[in-house]
Amino acid sequence: MARLSVCLLASLSALLLGIAAVSRSKGLRGTESQREPRIPSQFSQEQRIAMKEALKGAIQIPTVSFSPKELNTTALAEFGEYIRKVFPTVFHTSFIRHEVVGNYSHLFTIKGSDLSMQPYMLLAHIDVVPAPDKGWDVPPFSGLERDGFIYGRGTLDNKNSLMAILQALELLLIRNYIPRRSFFIALGHDEEVSGINGAQKISALLQARGVQLAFVVDEGSFILDGGPSLVLSYRVSVSEKGAINLMLQVNMTPGHSSAPPKETSIGILAAAVSRFCLAGEKSGPYRFIQYLNSRSIRNQTFFVSSLKVLKLAKDIVADDRVQFHVLDAFDPLPISPSDDQALGYQLLRQTIQSVFPEVNIVAPGTCIGNTDSRHYLNLTTGIYRFNPVYLQPQSFSSIHGINEKISVEAYETQVKFIFEFIQNGDTDVEPVPHLHEL
Ligand SMILES: *[C@@H]1O[C@H](CO)[C@@H](O)[C@H](O)[C@H]1NC(C)=O
Ligand SMILES: *[C@@H]1O[C@H](CO)[C@@H](O)[C@H](O)[C@H]1NC(C)=O
Ligand SMILES: *[C@@H]1O[C@H](CO)[C@@H](O)[C@H](O)[C@H]1NC(C)=O
Ligand SMILES: *[C@@H]1O[C@H](CO)[C@@H](O)[C@H](O)[C@H]1NC(C)=O
Repeated sequence: MARLSVCLLASLSALLLGIAAVSRSKGLRGTESQREPRIPSQFSQEQRIAMKEALKGAIQIPTVSFSPKELNTTALAEFGEYIRKVFPTVFHTSFIRHEVVGNYSHLFTIKGSDLSMQPYMLLAHIDVVPAPDKGWDVPPFSGLERDGFIYGRGTLDNKNSLMAILQALELLLIRNYIPRRSFFIALGHDEEVSGINGAQKISALLQARGVQLAFVVDEGSFILDGGPSLVLSYRVSVSEKGAINLMLQVNMTPGHSSAPPKETSIGILAAAVSRFCLAGEKSGPYRFIQYLNSRSIRNQTFFVSSLKVLKLAKDIVADDRVQFHVLDAFDPLPISPSDDQALGYQLLRQTIQSVFPEVNIVAPGTCIGNTDSRHYLNLTTGIYRFNPVYLQPQSFSSIHGINEKISVEAYETQVKFIFEFIQNGDTDVEPVPHLHEL
């Protein structure tokens, strides 16, 4: 996930703030009666070992995006070879078309047997943020397994999704699965630094082909493991916050350091920044201002939309000597439907309830981080961001941080989830009409 993975935080606060507006609809009607027998999501011991070894191998390829212009293209090319090697059936199935886009991104078109059904798309990304060795229990690109966890950069963001999608498809194909509904798999290579050469090019290609998608599923919120006493909630993110990068600047009259003025530019700037930190702790609108570690004191990043935020930021700082420069900004994404008619949302809900029966609540939420999915706005109105992965709240900071890791069990469940989801996508039953329940 580009910038910070703060969907998690949003989910947590949503969890604590309450459980209002939970849809109790029946979701999709008649999904049991599919024409083909379902392939059960059970895997042999051998397959489960192969699954986790494949993820470890993916982690070992350092597909780092250092900056928009500096990607490890050697690793990206190697990754393309790697997926060909570990998922041979995906690459040798007659109804699957594979294309490389923007040199390192991958687009798979899986042609279903019923072309009257509108296709959908699964997204994931290949690149990861840098990971210096310092602070890690194991080297970040070792993919080592310790105490039931696979460690490494990308185990949560987002090679877990990427590998799980291809893995689930591979396992379905070797059991002779043929989808009824067509779908796409798009794997971007520069999500962490814009998605301009990956997701954006794939989107343009599909737009040129006149494709319209029923919905898109991308990375996003996790399932919060709140412990036995807490309600388990699962937020499917139906929107993303906008983003704004602000530069704060203070100009003071130059002078000699031996006779500093009472207030220096650094002092004024530091005071302004610390007011943002305090604002982040407050409730109300201030809660949405996330103060984030930034590379330099002058480049601060906030994740909310933009003009109102600029005003809010100025109010917080309340110091005319501080100048605000907007470096870049974009508005929040439109809200995708989550009602009874929303096929993508209902399919997710159905799959969550079957794979995670212990999850009490499925509800729409907002993703404060940004993902590649924003490049697909022209193709669909239904964009859903989620990771079918349990996460301890304390693991949030490992994403883009140190000791990023996924439990082997959580990864197997993610494969199982996608294995089920793809089959659920074959339903030709329309979502049930909306019923108001009071
Ligand atoms: C880029 O990836 C290759 C492996 O594909 C690796 O050998 C090399 O060290 C990486 N370079 C950087 C700067 O991380
Ligand atoms: C793809 O590779 C070609 C040849 O190396 C290069 O000219 C082009 O700029 C690359 N395109 C992207 C999007 O990286
Ligand atoms: C702040 O960010 C801008 C835009 O990314 C960059 O041009 C500038 O060099 C940065 N300034 C500092 C002090 O890092
Ligand atoms: C969406 O479509 C419009 C109109 O065709 C086009 O101008 C715009 O660039 C497209 N946006 C994206 C992100 O593809």
